[in-house]
Amino acid sequence: MSSSDTMTDTNDVTEMTAPQNRSTTETVAKLDDLAVGEMKMVKVGDTAVALIRSESGVHAIDNACPHQGYGLVTGALADGIVTCQWHNWKFDAATGRCLIGEEDVACHRVDIADGEVAVTVEKPSPEQQRKRLWPSLRRGMENDYVGQMTRDAARLLEAGATPMQIMAEALKVAAPKADEGVGHEMALAADALAIAEVRSGDEAVSQDGVLLALAQGLSGLSETTRGYPVNPVPAGDPSIDVVAAVEAEDLDGAKAGLIGRIERGDDPAVIRSTVIDAVSPHHLGYGHGIIYTQKSFELLDRAGWELAPHLLPHLLTRIVYSTREDTLPYMRRAMRELATIDLGPLAEAAAEGSAVDQAWDPSAFADLILQATDAPISAAADMVRSGAGVDGLLDAVVMAVSERLLRHDLDVEFDNAEPFGWLDVTHGLTTARAARWAWHRHPGPSALRLALYAVWLAFDTGRSERRHGRAGARRRIDGWVGESPQLDGIGAAVLWRRPDDAVTLALSGDPGVVADQLLDASLADRAGSFIVVAHLVKTAQAAVEESTRSGSPLPMAAAARFLAAPRLERFVARSAVESADFVRTGRPPKR
Ligand code: FES
Repeated sequence: MSSSDTMTDTNDVTEMTAPQNRSTTETVAKLDDLAVGEMKMVKVGDTAVALIRSESGVHAIDNACPHQGYGLVTGALADGIVTCQWHNWKFDAATGRCLIGEEDVACHRVDIADGEVAVTVEKPSPEQQRKRLWPSLRRGMENDYVGQMTRDAARLLEAGATPMQIMAEALKVAAPKADEGVGHEMALAADALAIAEVRSGDEAVSQDGVLLALAQGLSGLSETTRGYPVNPVPAGDPSIDVVAAVEAEDLDGAKAGLIGRIERGDDPAVIRSTVIDAVSPHHLGYGHGIIYTQKSFELLDRAGWELAPHLLPHLLTRIVYSTREDTLPYMRRAMRELATIDLGPLAEAAAEGSAVDQAWDPSAFADLILQATDAPISAAADMVRSGAGVDGLLDAVVMAVSERLLRHDLDVEFDNAEPFGWLDVTHGLTTARAARWAWHRHPGPSALRLALYAVWLAFDTGRSERRHGRAGARRRIDGWVGESPQLDGIGAAVLWRRPDDAVTLALSGDPGVVADQLLDASLADRAGSFIVVAHLVKTAQAAVEESTRSGSPLPMAAAARFLAAPRLERFVARSAVESADFVRTGRPPKR
């Protein structure tokens, strides 16, 4: 029996009460025909088994190596250890435990009587298979073994596990170890799960598409948390005011207050509102405070509230540790304007007339954002007041940021002295999406403030344009459409780095097909580093949602250009340029 068989299965406890395995026993050899140090392949039913005689006795393990399925009997046996010759994984012949490599190999019972060797193969039921696989998936996550995680996820899907169960298990391993709290890895997991679940219900989509989405999510979670210690969570204390504790940067207090509310059984919607209230007082790290909040609660909506104690305390870590951008000089002017707006009555009026006034056209305000020399915060409040509501305001923000993505200067990406790049612009779109999420779940002054931060961020995504004198109004949609490209979809445009063609395809294609192609391309390893994959996926997902909402192809076209653009992942090179300058001159980097 392999070591993993002895571990508790948390996902299938009830199903495990009635296992239905099939057992086959066959006499496979005479003992005298198998010398010590010898291995041979035998069949038990339809299972190929490696029969092994070592100094410790006769053993039987699956002949198919769990790595890629090559036969173990063609490998080597020494000191009770079987070596697979293909990639040198090593297994304990007596237990099947993997000593070098990743997964264990299945081990079978051996009986010897009257010089005859019999092997019993227990064909596990799907429930038993899942029980064996969960610990293996967890080990893969802990070691960041992408192959093991992906194979185990594929085996789990085959054995009837759902994408939600697989992602939930991965999050339980990773979230508590997230350094400085959950971040892009969790956001990627949320988007990946959303995509996997939609695909699971679509018979036209192969299981491979589901697995790809899951694999990106699992890989991001494990890559960013491998080797980190588990972050402590204090005992719950519902008497602690979570919002006040976050404001005071009292992380233990905030966690204790939140855990106390979960343990007390508070309504999840009320807890969600509390976290939105805790995020809203500050514009946190390029909008990531509200983005991570949105993604965390979307994950819980999909994976179940039972996951809340594993995830939400570590969301608070991120919120408490995030940069409070609103305290920095470049936001002071906007914050002074924001302070003059009475958010309570304005939010109340906006919530009452929650449908956007039909006469409201977001394009004028989008143009204002694109051409403004200061963030138009008061003008945004006027827009809300005059019938746009919060949704209409965010429609304008999305339109303006989509425009910025469509005209982002690609040369900027190749200048290591330039501090601004693609990822800075994408936050404008994902933050607006997150502010909209917050407004629909907790309409009030907190969510209104987040929408006004989104206006500021949309303005700020133009700082490179303004620095280089390229700011300007929108182009009409047909101004972006080029000649029909001879390409098989957006994925090909992304693969061949043809941004203009990607835009044309996105603007002229069927919206449902464009959405699928965009999400596929975002998941398909078109970036080298995890952080870029996370941005590709979350931007594509936000663009699909915003295009679906508005009926405009512009957000999807903008995301398609981002995916297809020639892009350097210049984190190390840029860091070297900045560090050299800082150490030499003492100057902080440009913004
Ligand atoms: S197939 Fe056995 S180690 Fe790769």
